[in-house]
Amino acid sequence: MPVPFYLHDLDPEAAEAVAKVVATPFLTSGAVGREVEQQLRDFFAIDHAFLINSWTNGAVATLLALEVGPGDEVIVPAMTFIASANVARLVGARPVFVDVDPETLLIQPEAVAAAVSPRTRAVIPVHLYGRMCDLPGLRAALGPREDIAIIEDAAHCFEGLRDGDPPGRHSEAAIFSFYATKNVTCGEGGAIVTRDPELATRLARTRLHGMSELAIDRMRGARYQHWDMLCLGTKANLPDLLAALLPPQIAGVRSRLARREALAARYEAAFGETPLRLPGPVAGSLDARHLFCIHLPPACRDEAILALNARGIGVTVNYRAVPTLTYYRETYGHGPEDFPVSQHWGDGTLSLPLYPRLTDQQQDEVIAAVLEDVVPLVQRTRP
Ligand SMILES: Cc1ncc(COP(=O)(O)O)c(C=O)c1O
Repeated sequence: MPVPFYLHDLDPEAAEAVAKVVATPFLTSGAVGREVEQQLRDFFAIDHAFLINSWTNGAVATLLALEVGPGDEVIVPAMTFIASANVARLVGARPVFVDVDPETLLIQPEAVAAAVSPRTRAVIPVHLYGRMCDLPGLRAALGPREDIAIIEDAAHCFEGLRDGDPPGRHSEAAIFSFYATKNVTCGEGGAIVTRDPELATRLARTRLHGMSELAIDRMRGARYQHWDMLCLGTKANLPDLLAALLPPQIAGVRSRLARREALAARYEAAFGETPLRLPGPVAGSLDARHLFCIHLPPACRDEAILALNARGIGVTVNYRAVPTLTYYRETYGHGPEDFPVSQHWGDGTLSLPLYPRLTDQQQDEVIAAVLEDVVPLVQRTRP
């Protein structure tokens, strides 16, 4: 039986929620999104939440709101998805890559502090695979540089915690992705949360062309209302058609986490005695269990992918090191020796299926394939 890499959790009621929006005059951002934004404020116990049409566009809106642009630097980990770095380029700034911790694969406060320059305006710590970075430690490491914003890349970490705190508690903003494979999804989308009222005011504009009023507000009442353009913004608002898919998923995310945890524990028990490497634990972190990644000697990783695919098992690679992908290598001249931890992890990692609808039987097939096909490959490859 094939085992897909991912399946969403949406049930048939999701179609009814979309049908209700279709029956209204307005398909774009409106009353449904506003209710979801309230749900997000309650979930994260935070004053400001904005739905966005992707993590990427939301991060561009955030950088524009913070006036990060040409001549500025944004510190990002070398082990992440390309979007974390691309958003700096998209506003004309320079992403400054930092290698990650060899055990946790998270960006470390000391490494960030070492990369800070007079041009640094933001840091984008990535809660990779669902484990949260040390944000109070990061703030402390930045010392007196209060002009440096911390923008959390929480694309993998909607329901994660660190020392009991959710994303958004120790940063200027935290940004989530609701992309198709994420723990909370509406196909494409995301959200920004912030405690900062001034940033929230600016974000409300940069999320929508820099306009002074949302379409829903411009259309209220019978009389047309003029709007103004107050700053440069992008188009990052989420339509109600997609927002309608979110409420049950947000409400059920913690109970689905229990299933993710059970699946991850079964993988860990099965691979404990093998030479496969897993990311190390993060102290104090409640893992959102977004991805289950293993690491093999780079020389046999791609053969392992082929072997799993031949058994009908979907896998992905999260991620190859960003600085040595063609665009960044050609733009900044980075080589594999510049970020050795990210390079080595990225050359040897692969991600196995992990989602609440994965059955025990399907997972047993994945485990058997890894033990029968992948582990022998690793044993043959090891020096
Ligand atoms: C770590 C990380 N950051 C950012 C993104 C970008 O999210 P989006 O596709 O919503 O723009 C992703 C998406 O996969 C991601 O995994």
